[in-house]
This record gives sequence, structure tokens and C-alpha cells, in this order.
Amino acid sequence: MWSTTLLALATLDLTAAERVLGAYIFARHGDRTPKVLGNTRLTDLGYSEVHQAGTYYHKRYIADNSSSQIEGISPAIVNLTQLTASSPSDAVLQNSGTAFLQGVYPPAGASATETLSDGRKVQAPLQGYQLVPLSLISSNANSEDNTWLQDATGCNNAKVSSNSYYSSGLYDEVLAQSGGFYRSLEGLLNSTFAEGKMSFKNAYTIFDYLNVASIHNSSNTPTSAQLTRLYQLANIEQYNLAYNDTDTVRAIAGAQLAGEMLQGLNKTITSKGKTKLAIQFGSYGTFLSYFGLAQLPSTNVNFTGIPDYASSMAWELVTNSSAPFPDEEDISVRFIFHNGTIPASGAPATFPLYGQSAPSMSWKTFVAETRKIAVTSTPEWCKMCGNTDGKCASYSAGESGSEASAASKGEGGVSRPVAGVIGAMVTLAVILGLQALFFLVGGFRITKKGKGTVPVGGVTEDKSKGQSAPV
Ligand SMILES: *[C@@H]1O[C@H](CO)[C@@H](O)[C@H](O)[C@H]1NC(C)=O
Ligand SMILES: *[C@@H]1O[C@H](CO)[C@@H](O)[C@H](O)[C@H]1NC(C)=O
Ligand SMILES: *[C@@H]1O[C@H](CO)[C@@H](O)[C@H](O)[C@H]1NC(C)=O
Ligand SMILES: *[C@@H]1O[C@H](CO)[C@@H](O)[C@H](O)[C@H]1NC(C)=O
Ligand SMILES: *[C@@H]1O[C@H](CO)[C@@H](O)[C@H](O)[C@H]1NC(C)=O
Ligand SMILES: *[C@@H]1O[C@H](CO)[C@@H](O)[C@H](O)[C@H]1NC(C)=O
Ligand SMILES: *[C@@H]1O[C@H](CO)[C@@H](O)[C@H](O)[C@H]1NC(C)=O
Ligand SMILES: *[C@@H]1O[C@H](CO)[C@@H](O)[C@H](O)[C@H]1NC(C)=O
Ligand SMILES: *[C@@H]1O[C@H](CO)[C@@H](O)[C@H](O)[C@H]1NC(C)=O
Repeated sequence: MWSTTLLALATLDLTAAERVLGAYIFARHGDRTPKVLGNTRLTDLGYSEVHQAGTYYHKRYIADNSSSQIEGISPAIVNLTQLTASSPSDAVLQNSGTAFLQGVYPPAGASATETLSDGRKVQAPLQGYQLVPLSLISSNANSEDNTWLQDATGCNNAKVSSNSYYSSGLYDEVLAQSGGFYRSLEGLLNSTFAEGKMSFKNAYTIFDYLNVASIHNSSNTPTSAQLTRLYQLANIEQYNLAYNDTDTVRAIAGAQLAGEMLQGLNKTITSKGKTKLAIQFGSYGTFLSYFGLAQLPSTNVNFTGIPDYASSMAWELVTNSSAPFPDEEDISVRFIFHNGTIPASGAPATFPLYGQSAPSMSWKTFVAETRKIAVTSTPEWCKMCGNTDGKCASYSAGESGSEASAASKGEGGVSRPVAGVIGAMVTLAVILGLQALFFLVGGFRITKKGKGTVPVGGVTEDKSKGQSAPV
């Protein structure tokens, strides 16, 4: 009797035990030098911060004794089929990536030893250091050297959209209100900022400079009240540059992340768990754009604030099914976020996405909601951004459908008119070009026709050629 109850309980428990099938992590770099001085680099403090964040994710997803261990993931020695990592081409982000990965798969000591054909044993250097390749993503290159998010995204319509913030009433109001405050900081800023640059227009760059100073410079330190005000002002500026309700192209960085994350998780499902964990590194602007797109500020107003160094968020594929690899219908997605370095005793919290209230949502709903905000291909990106050069050149030839499909994606505001203007200018240029060509070639021909001689090759000594203009 008791034993059957126990058995029943045990079975119940087994079937109810939640399993983590995979995850996608997006992480911010650690402490670094200020953007305004250029050549930004990760500091030793920053190195420690991201390493600590990576160590947390080892404890959560990799360690054998974790209740959230990703099922089947190699617990000690990294298996590169299971794990991928990527970063934009950027010194701070790439080094943060390496540091984070050192935490995710720490040196394995003598376990990282192989035996050669002659019986010799070789241990990996640095106490069994594990190498994880960091692939480069094309978007957001040099983002930590750029003081402006949209310089890194390279998306034309997003630039126009973000710029429109600087000519809005919202901006003018804060600019006026904060003028005196920025002037009062002149003594702290004048070694680096020109007189005209000490204003809300440069809210983030100024905050960044003095925030770094408050951490590293004992002689040029703002008071904590000043730093708090600088941070609040930078939040207002940066959130408005990264996201706008009615003008979604502004959040292109978050839309791209959403697309990459969706593809990463989808791959875990379609490969039935062969790939398990993807980690991407990026900057706060991408966090803010994604927060806006995923409607996180409606859950917690903190999501309009710049996440601190070494912040991280992750989307987890979870299930209660006991099937070897569950069907899509039995898989849910849970979103977690932590603001700043995760302390040894801390953990990220769960937040509902897309204005829902439950802490997780079915894969099907998640896909439907994410598709609404995500950019998932280069042609789609080109259309949304109105870019026609570089990687977009090959997609911009047959462009007639672009506006219709951009509209069906639901972007409003500046993006469509701007795409239209760019399109019109291109069309105009093409028409003018054709006209010029027509005048040149056509004029030549008409002359010839009039003379009744149409030599192939066109080399004649006809003197009337230049005089007869086509009517
Ligand atoms: C898992 O194992 C590690 C290393 O042995 C230990 O430090 C940690 O406390 C364990 N965690 C749990 C949840 O038991
Ligand atoms: C910056 O301002 C301080 C305080 O007003 C002043 O003493 C200093 O000479 C100024 N430095 C520069 C480079 O203008
Ligand atoms: C501290 O700030 C002063 C004034 O801006 C600057 O000259 C100095 O190089 C800074 N020191 C460090 C360690 O950043
Ligand atoms: C969105 O952007 C438009 C145009 O720049 C602006 O008028 C509007 O106030 C912005 N909305 C918010 C919520 O900031
Ligand atoms: C997942 O991948 C499969 C196979 O590549 C594809 O058919 C499907 O549309 C993808 N689903 C999502 C949500 O991206
Ligand atoms: C690595 O992972 C893949 C897929 O998860 C698995 O098929 C393979 O056996 C693993 N390799 C090793 C050496 O464990
Ligand atoms: C916002 O974040 C701060 C610092 O992390 C925290 O103290 C505060 O409780 C948060 N506010 C909300 C509404 O969660
Ligand atoms: C991070 O914490 C700060 C307070 O330290 C808060 O103001 C900000 O809104 C938070 N950002 C997020 C994304 O939680
Ligand atoms: C799994 O079951 C637990 C306990 O009933 C529940 O709290 C959790 O939300 C379930 N997870 C999923 C992904 O359905």
C-alpha cells in the first residue's frame, strides 16, 4: 500500500519534472574604458564581471547537479556540436565573449587530456583551458567604439528614425530642463568635451565618461547624486533612440536579435536537441530595442533603463513531457534576465514576454509573437532599412514589392515615407540616366536616320551630328 503510493508519487514526480532542452543567451560586455576616448577596451574589472556571469550559466545549464541543466549537454568538456557563440567584430565584445565562455566551460584540468598513438598523454595548456570559437556576426561591428547605436546597425531608416528624436518636442523639453545641470559639470568635462557638447544631446557619452571616471579615476569623480541624474538622463535619451512604439524600424537591433534567437531555438527543436546552447554578445542598445519590442517595460518600468555591465538575458526551451525529444506542442519558452553581474548567490528573474502574464508561453505562441517583431533574413532587413548598397545591392533590383511587404510588417511613422523617398530618388536617378542615354544614343541615331546612313559601329565624320537635337 505505502510502497505503491510512494511509487505512484515517484512516477508523478518524474513526469512532472521540468526539463530544459536548450537555451539562447544574450549578454552585455563588462566594465570598459569610456567610448568618448576611442579604442575602448575591456578592463580587468570587466573581465572578472563577464567571467562571473559565465560561471553562473555554467552552474545553471552545464553542471551535472543543476536542476536546470540542459538535457544531454556535456558537463565538463565542451562539445562544439552543442554550443555556439557569436559576437560582432569589436574588441570589447569579443574579449567579453571569451571571458564569459571561460566561465561557461572552465579549464578542465587533467580531464582535458588526450592519449597519442605512442601512448604519450597531452594535457591542454593553462590547466586544461577549453577553446570555444567565437564566430563573428556582420551586424553591429565596432559597436563599443561607436557612441551611437545606429552607426553600428548601419540601417538607413533606423538612423532617420532615431535622428527624428532629436527634433521632437520630447527631446527639446529635456534638453532645456537639463541645460543648467550639464553646465554645472563643466569642470569635470572640459578636459574631454568641447563647450557645445556638454548637453543632453550627448547624454549617454557624458554619463559613460563620468561613470567610468567614478569607477577608475580618483581625481575626476562626480557625486553620486550627479551620477544618478546623468544615468537617468542617459536612459531617457537611449531608450528613445533605441525604441519607439509607432516607428518600429528604430528597434532594428532588437528585431535582428529576435530573428537570430528564434532561429537558434528553432534549430534546437528541428535538430531534436543536437544543438543546445547559443550565446551571443552585444551592447545595451540591443537590449533596449528588444525590451521595447517584447513589451517588457509594461511589465516593469526598469526595462526602459540601460542594463548594467555584464547583464544577461536568456530564452529557455522547457517541457514537462517525458518523451525522448518532445513534440513542438509540448515545448514552452521562458525568458529570464539579470541586470548587471550575477552575484555568487544570485540568479536571473523570470519575466513574461509580449504583454502576456504567464511566466512561460507555448512555443507556438512564442513563434507567432516573435515573428511579429523579428527580422529573419537579409532581404527583409534591406527592405525595412531601405538600404540598397553593400549586402543589399543584390536584393534591391526588383524592389517593387518592398513597400507593400514593409507595410504588412506593420512599421509606421518615418520608415515607409523614407523608404519611399529613397525609392523615388533611385527611380529619378535611373530615369535621368536613361534620358541622358537616350539623348546621347537616340540623338545620334535620329541624325543618322535623317541622313539615311546608319553605319554599324557609329564612327562617321558626320558634322551635323551635334546640331540636331531630338525633339
Ligand atoms: C554542484 O556541485 C558543485 C561542485 O561540486 C557545488 O559547488 C555546488 O554547490 C553543487 N550545487 C548543487 C545545487 O548541489
Ligand atoms: C576646466 O574647468 C576648471 C574649473 O572651472 C578650470 O579650472 C580649468 O582650467 C578648465 N580646464 C580647461 C582645459 O578648460
Ligand atoms: C582622470 O581624469 C583626468 C581629468 O579628466 C585625466 O587627465 C586623467 O588622465 C584621468 N585618469 C585616469 C586614470 O583615467
Ligand atoms: C515616437 O516617435 C515619434 C516621431 O519621432 C514621436 O512623435 C512620438 O512622440 C514618439 N513616441 C514616443 C512614445 O516617444
Ligand atoms: C524552423 O526550421 C524549419 C526547418 O528549417 C523551418 O521550416 C521552420 O519554418 C522554422 N521555424 C521557425 C519558427 O523559424
Ligand atoms: C557531441 O554532441 C553531439 C550532439 O549533441 C553528439 O551526437 C555527439 O556524440 C557528442 N560528441 C561527443 C564526443 O560526446
Ligand atoms: C528596478 O531595479 C532596481 C535595481 O536593480 C531595484 O532596486 C528595483 O526594485 C527595480 N524596480 C522594480 C519595479 O522592479
Ligand atoms: C538596471 O538597474 C538600474 C538601477 O541600478 C535601473 O535603473 C535600470 O532600469 C535597470 N535596467 C533594467 C533593464 O532592469
Ligand atoms: C511543469 O510543471 C510545473 C509543476 O506543475 C509547472 O509549474 C510548470 O509551469 C510546468 N512547465 C511547463 C513548461 O509546462
